[in-house]
Amino acid sequence: MKTTPVLCVALASLQSLAAALTIAEINGNKFLSPYSGKSVTNVTGLVIAKGPSGIFIRSTTPDDDKATSESIYVYGTSVGANLAVGDVITLDGKVTEYRSNAAYIYLTEITSPKNVQVLSSGNTVTPLVIGKDTLSPPTVQYTSLDGGDIYGLPNGVANISVVNPVLDPTQYGLDFWESLSGELVTIKKPQAIKTPNKYGDTWVVGDWATTGRNKHSGLTMSDKDSNPEAIIIGTPLDGTKNPTTAKMGDEFEDITGVVQQVFGFYYILPLTAVKTTTFSSAAVPPTTFLSQGKCTAVTVGSYNVENLAPTSAHLPKVAAHIIDYLKTPDLMTTAVPTDDGVVSANATLTALVNSIKTLSGVTYSFADVDPPGGNIRQAYLYRPEVVSLYQPNQGGPNDATAVVPGKGNGKGLGGAPTLTFNPGRIEPANEAWKDSRKPLVAAWRAKGAKRPFYTVNVHWSSKGGGTSLHGDIRPPINGVVAGRIAQANVTGSFIAQILALDPTAKVIAAGDFNEFAFVQPMKTFSAVSKMVDLDEVTKIPIEERYT
Ligand SMILES: *[C@@H]1O[C@H](CO)[C@@H](O)[C@H](O)[C@H]1NC(C)=O
Ligand SMILES: *[C@@H]1O[C@H](CO)[C@@H](O)[C@H](O)[C@H]1NC(C)=O
Ligand SMILES: *[C@@H]1O[C@H](CO)[C@@H](O)[C@H](O)[C@H]1NC(C)=O
Ligand SMILES: *[C@@H]1O[C@H](CO)[C@@H](O)[C@H](O)[C@H]1NC(C)=O
Repeated sequence: MKTTPVLCVALASLQSLAAALTIAEINGNKFLSPYSGKSVTNVTGLVIAKGPSGIFIRSTTPDDDKATSESIYVYGTSVGANLAVGDVITLDGKVTEYRSNAAYIYLTEITSPKNVQVLSSGNTVTPLVIGKDTLSPPTVQYTSLDGGDIYGLPNGVANISVVNPVLDPTQYGLDFWESLSGELVTIKKPQAIKTPNKYGDTWVVGDWATTGRNKHSGLTMSDKDSNPEAIIIGTPLDGTKNPTTAKMGDEFEDITGVVQQVFGFYYILPLTAVKTTTFSSAAVPPTTFLSQGKCTAVTVGSYNVENLAPTSAHLPKVAAHIIDYLKTPDLMTTAVPTDDGVVSANATLTALVNSIKTLSGVTYSFADVDPPGGNIRQAYLYRPEVVSLYQPNQGGPNDATAVVPGKGNGKGLGGAPTLTFNPGRIEPANEAWKDSRKPLVAAWRAKGAKRPFYTVNVHWSSKGGGTSLHGDIRPPINGVVAGRIAQANVTGSFIAQILALDPTAKVIAAGDFNEFAFVQPMKTFSAVSKMVDLDEVTKIPIEERYT
């Protein structure tokens, strides 16, 4: 058999190739390992950290490629038992791509470690300082598969796990973190950009360049920039617990830990619990963007008082917010849910109004339209000594209010556009509102004003079904975005009708749009309605545009 010796040669060279693999070669320069599913032998690395279920090893023969991580996680609950940080070891195992959910990016790891041998001990382990020993995290884009806009449409067109793009850690945030997978890193001057979750997981940035930094030390997302430079600090490897009391802006001692893909996000798992050094409350002054009480027109506030019922323990707190933060505005858009089988929101709104009255002496009236089934709906609170409904005509759940020309000569109250139902709902039968809340429209007259003004109180569909910015699916799914675009069109068209009849009409659209100001539904809304975002009108700096 002539072919047999040839086959033997091929097998032998494959064998020696596998034996020679470095950690960088195992990781490769993409998200997925070129050796996924393959057995590897005699992998050499320095033990840089130990976790409860495995160890992290770093290559002793690194390459010069920034895209290939020099470290890797070795999964095995007993692999670390007889090993110490600082040991240089060799081991055999299997290259595995692991994720616990199809929506996550894979973690490249070595599983089933065996034949672990210690070559030397007591070697120095030096973490890589992010931004000094590594590149700095990219600040704008997440991956090359997002088309330059993580909220761009269409979304969900590619999966990292399928395309497996070559990493560009200079351009893309997830590529950057992936290129350090398994690596021991230090964050200098870490600062919390969010309050931790109940496990103490905390989003931070270090001393590297950031975009969108706001005055309260948060990172504000803006058009095509969703801040991939932020990273989550997760559960410490040594079993200690991070504080759950940190606040946005708190500074921590330098954090050293390993980069790991956990629960669908890139994390740094610190060697030990993070320690706060400076508390934000001392450093961050409150906003000065407050009413001076000198407004000679109508003050308007908006507050989605989620899940409020007459018996809610937090009802007085909501009332206090309306008094202390919103300064008991003349008119308020709100949403009051909780489906308790009672369709009328009368009792809830009455309880809220009574609570505000008790705490501040201010008396509100309210207006809404009961929905036919589900209970969540928008409502208005208003101070009747300042504003009242203009030509009120209570709409029912299925009544579509329409804009009609006023009966006067175009000047003064009589000529202003009126609503056939006031308050009323916009096209309740329109498909765009299927399983969602219809906007509540009202025309108002302020005391002494010559013309009415109009409010559109929205609560567009929520982002249910959306996927994570750190997820496998690119660009990430912005849940129900098509629904909100349709809702933007219907809401915007209605407002355009008011403005067609009276180009000088004052219209406020407020409530819960369930969308970022720079994403398509709001662009559609602006284009169709001809309304302008209040943040644009007031020229608030882009990084201060958040609530
Ligand atoms: C395993 O790797 C070490 C160096 O990391 C080398 O000294 C040794 O010869 C290798 N063993 C085999 C069987 O290739
Ligand atoms: C991406 O993965 C999801 C599962 O998370 C799957 O439903 C979808 O079809 C995949 N899309 C592409 C373009 O491969
Ligand atoms: C609303 O509730 C108040 C107090 O509970 C009650 O006096 C009033 O009759 C109710 N109005 C309607 C329309 O149900
Ligand atoms: C808005 O809806 C109208 C009527 O259905 C449609 O003709 C138009 O294309 C839509 N516009 C946008 C921006 O979606």
